[in-house]
Amino acid sequence: MKRLAIFASGTGSNFQVIAEAIRSGSIRAELVLLVCDKPDAAVIEKAEWLHIPAFVAEPKRFETKQVYEKAVLAALEEAQVDFVVLAGYMRLIGPTLLQAYGGRIINIHPSLLPSFPGLHAIEQAFAAGVKVTGITIHFVDDGMDTGPIIAQEAVKLSRGETIESLTDKIHHLEHTLYPRVIAELLNEE
Ligand code: GAR
Repeated sequence: MKRLAIFASGTGSNFQVIAEAIRSGSIRAELVLLVCDKPDAAVIEKAEWLHIPAFVAEPKRFETKQVYEKAVLAALEEAQVDFVVLAGYMRLIGPTLLQAYGGRIINIHPSLLPSFPGLHAIEQAFAAGVKVTGITIHFVDDGMDTGPIIAQEAVKLSRGETIESLTDKIHHLEHTLYPRVIAELLNEE
């Protein structure tokens, strides 16, 4: 059974649904570590409730990004992590982690990539006036939201759609697609 780490920076709603899918057995993996770069993120409390160990470290407290990533890597290796899932981790993965875990890191992004990469993707799409946006799950490479695409699903904008209603739709879709894709990737092994 694969040993999974989730990286997150914020609320952790995706962290929670993935943890629940693991607990219920629909994803056959063990969730062994949360990596969080924001000491006040709500996801940390979710990990505590679920008794999942957390490595919490602010990158700015390290001399360089490489030193920060070496500390993350040490935590991953100590927990014997096989596979990394980014779930709202608002930071680019650098060479140190890519060298160790290349091809074994996936990310979810709230737009139909290659449209609207980077931060505030839902807001970017809404401001552009698109009629369809969506979500993308992809392998992580050294670019920003550029790695090979694994799955995408579209969301239509309704008349009178607001940024809040669109955000809700996107999150709802993420919460069903991400656990399903992780199960497809890990259960077959
Ligand atoms: C999700 O919508 C995820 O797609 C997005 O952050 C949110 C995290 O929500 N990720 C990115 O924008 C990455 N570029 P959560 O903390 O409730 O899971």
